[in-house]
Amino acid sequence: MPSEPQVRIFASPQDLFRAAAEQFYDRGSRAISEHGRFSVALSGGSTPRGLHEEIVRNFSSRLPWDKVFFFWGDERHVPPDDPESNYRMANETLLGKLHVPADHIFRIPAEMQDAGESAAAYERTLRGFFRAPNVFPRFDFVLLGMGPDGHTASLFPGTTALDEQEHWVVANWVEKLNTFRITMTYPVLNHAACVMFLVSGVEKAQMLKEALRNPNANLPCQRVRPFEGQLLWFLDQGAGGKL
Ligand code: 6PG
Repeated sequence: MPSEPQVRIFASPQDLFRAAAEQFYDRGSRAISEHGRFSVALSGGSTPRGLHEEIVRNFSSRLPWDKVFFFWGDERHVPPDDPESNYRMANETLLGKLHVPADHIFRIPAEMQDAGESAAAYERTLRGFFRAPNVFPRFDFVLLGMGPDGHTASLFPGTTALDEQEHWVVANWVEKLNTFRITMTYPVLNHAACVMFLVSGVEKAQMLKEALRNPNANLPCQRVRPFEGQLLWFLDQGAGGKL
């Protein structure tokens, strides 16, 4: 049975990021003690910056980073040094400040001219890491955000990637952004052990109310329901104010 969302609202963005960092740490410790490694899919956008800074500030010495493996749920179709790059943001705010071995960081090769090739290459990387060809990968922890239109990762309303049920990673044309994005698909997100949405800011409150209170809203973020995993929605008071 897909899991019910567990919604937690925190008084301030600081409290939100602190609780999210503790969740990251708890999940990491548990995964490493249970199966020797912690596989994480990071999110893009701006909200994760606060979490990254909190992990660096208060957890940098508390996890064995040689047992943590970093991936991305999605990426913009840009090179890794581009200001729009999700990899660059994570590298500047988190990975570059932790002792994570370089071969534990699996970025999406979005510098490739053909976004479809980037997606295919990344799927090969995931298949090489998870080594279970016939089953979808089971990330220990997937971090997601929610956009103002209810999108998550790069699964935008009205785009073809919403219907993908076979590929693990696809190139998704987003008409309103006039660009491709490279994104993990629902089967991958929904096979995770834990998915945590991190949402901050009053400007997200109305869409959040739709996402969590209107089952007929048919928003991309609503289709993230892990089959055998936890679904957490961590919000600050601004974002959760209309619930
Ligand atoms: C991206 C993200 C995207 C993001 C939302 C929220 O690459 O942009 O993966 O899904 O999480 O757009 O973005 P903000 O955190 O900036 O509001």
